[in-house]
Amino acid sequence: RRAPGRPRLSPVRLSSTGAAAQRAPGREEADSKVSSWKKTFPEVQAERLEQAQRTVLINCPAKISEKKFLKYLSHHGKINSHYFYESYGTYAVVEFSEKDSIASLQDITRTPGIEEECAVPFKSRLFTLTLKNSSIQAADQAPVHCHKQSTILVNDLVQKLCSADSVSSQLYTLMDEYQLTEENTKLRFLACSLIQEIACAYFPECTVKPFGSSVNTFGKLGCDLDMFLDLDEIERSPTRTKTGPFYMEYQMKRVPSQRIASQRILSVIGDCIDNFGPGCVGVQKILNARCPLVRFSHQPTGFQCDLTTNNRVAMRSSELLYIYGSLDSRVRALVFSVRCWARAHGITSTIPGPWITNFSLTMMALFFLQKRTPPIIPTLDQLKDLADAEDKHIVEGHDCTFASNVNKIKPTENTETLDVLLSDFFEYFGNFAFNKNSINIRKGKEQNKPEPSPLYIQNPFEQALNISKNVNQSQLDRFVALARECAWILQQEDKGHSSLSNSQPWGLAALLLPSVASNCVKGKKKRKGPASERIKSLLDSLKINNANSLVNNGGK
Ligand code: GTP
Ligand code: MG
Repeated sequence: RRAPGRPRLSPVRLSSTGAAAQRAPGREEADSKVSSWKKTFPEVQAERLEQAQRTVLINCPAKISEKKFLKYLSHHGKINSHYFYESYGTYAVVEFSEKDSIASLQDITRTPGIEEECAVPFKSRLFTLTLKNSSIQAADQAPVHCHKQSTILVNDLVQKLCSADSVSSQLYTLMDEYQLTEENTKLRFLACSLIQEIACAYFPECTVKPFGSSVNTFGKLGCDLDMFLDLDEIERSPTRTKTGPFYMEYQMKRVPSQRIASQRILSVIGDCIDNFGPGCVGVQKILNARCPLVRFSHQPTGFQCDLTTNNRVAMRSSELLYIYGSLDSRVRALVFSVRCWARAHGITSTIPGPWITNFSLTMMALFFLQKRTPPIIPTLDQLKDLADAEDKHIVEGHDCTFASNVNKIKPTENTETLDVLLSDFFEYFGNFAFNKNSINIRKGKEQNKPEPSPLYIQNPFEQALNISKNVNQSQLDRFVALARECAWILQQEDKGHSSLSNSQPWGLAALLLPSVASNCVKGKKKRKGPASERIKSLLDSLKINNANSLVNNGGK
């Protein structure tokens, strides 16, 4: 356990780019600068999408001779990399050096002869290796090594955190355990590329790209896979720029709005995925949502997928978060811990509802880091001032311009440790004037709330919107109460006043325990007003609900 008053560790150096960025172990010098040249978000996307197109997914027996398996596959071309993982069976991800190798492998494969069912002859890059008395398979062979695709259990995490030597290194330990691995990131791009093949049946020039936490550097192993069906490349094709008298009538008819176009596109692609998508199950078309989507589970990779189209603003949000996450190692470490803490206490949920979302929490953490002295990250307006001509992006009238080259952004002079930042994060939001102020990462300043939602976080691009409009007062109150409790725990520990014994979880580990939430409830009960007041407010809310239901039922 950390001795009170021990010097806090300084932030450490990032050693590589984007999703796979790691902390250099054991570095304790004051250095929050990024050490190596960072790729831009579009460069990472293009590189990984191209790599995914040269990759196949093979369902294979767990006990095979890896050497013979690779030797067999190498008849079709040079293999760049491979790995195994488990998801309803053992799978191998094999990246060839050339795309042609895939056609060569497809040419010698058969569709299985199934007796009472018929296979749809849709060629895919998903294969099953069945071996009868083959030399590749060996009963006495040890199972192949599988890469992990999920996080460790919270109890195991808490134990690990307890053996760290400062709160700061606890945050980095949590991030190392939770962040997406290189293999998992590749698998996410592969899943997109497999769905792209299906969508290509309708739109041959389309691309399917991951966005959201799969690529914004804040993804946790096991997070959902947000997919963007990009049809804009088709619009940018040379036919559009030619000046002849002919206009091409696209496959799609003219429809009254972009929303209707998106709904129609997703409707047919959803049917395609349902009918022909190998391994795609539980397909749901949720076309009336604010952002229409097709949700399904991709069994071979184990990802829960949300496919959207015409969602370019969300793509820009992902790029913006990628930039913030790549600027300073403390950003990701803080966000991972806050997200994990929120999940442990049911502040966030996998079910939609009046809860704070991971996206909103990330915005709050970014805002907090902009408010430090000196600021740890720039405001969005400052990033806009640094933008080049090619960074200019106006999406449906919204200005989404910001500098895309991380290397051009001056690193911060701020050397605060994560010990301080975590504690101050809870204190800051435990005392934030949510009743009158909004959070705005574009300006990096609190502003008056334009409307009375309990939590108002301005959408950085669609500036008239609140990204946390769904959050109700009681969820916000829970967040505030927990934040205060956690600030108090960390401050007590820092003063050496902790009531915990040496064998008990401390620092971040203590904040993840369920007892933190129950202390809040106890504290809240004490503070509650007299019973008559509580009954009065309950009756008032019943009156309001009753009036609403009369309106909704037309007064019947
Ligand atoms: P996870 O919880 O790990 O999936 O985080 P996430 O960032 O991927 O969030 P989610 O899957 O809910 O949404 C995917 C992306 O859609 C986000 O990264 C944002 O870019 C965008 N997004 C999500 N919620 C909102 C919202 O309320 N408003 C706006 N404008 N964009 C949102
Ligand atoms: Mg997501």
